[in-house]
Amino acid sequence: MQTKAQIYKTAAAEIAAVIDGEPSAIARYATAACILSESFDSFFWTGFYLVDPHKPKELVVGPYQGSLGCLRIAFDRGVCGACASAEATVIVPDVHKFDGHIACDSATNSEIVVPVFDDTGALAAILDVDSTKFDNFDDDDKAGLEAICSGLLKGARI
Ligand code: SME
Repeated sequence: MQTKAQIYKTAAAEIAAVIDGEPSAIARYATAACILSESFDSFFWTGFYLVDPHKPKELVVGPYQGSLGCLRIAFDRGVCGACASAEATVIVPDVHKFDGHIACDSATNSEIVVPVFDDTGALAAILDVDSTKFDNFDDDDKAGLEAICSGLLKGARI
């Protein structure tokens, strides 16, 4: 059986190969959401919320795989907002114990949210992964997802 680190390594290589030369950030987000979602059975909702350039301090839903997500999340709301405000990864082992958690789907029990930065170092988006399992995410997920997010927008132009 493959370790999580091995699965992330394979997923990262696959994402890098598919987005190579692709200038569209949206195409890159969609590719990462799809490949990550297919890589782990435990990922119930996998996708991106983008910083709205017209409403700074507000996220708007981007490409994702999973059940219907809410459209907008303010920086002072939910796990996604906490990640966007801190510009740092947030792991929540039990979302029911996280004050202000936004339950887009009641099937979610744990969650990890990772920031995505553009070439200038500005926050561009967050990657949100939800699981129906409790305590599904650990430092291996943090390392694997941060590695994927750190390269995702390199060279993106549109
Ligand atoms: N649970 C997130 C909201 C996004 S959805 O789960 C897709 C939060 O608390 O920010």
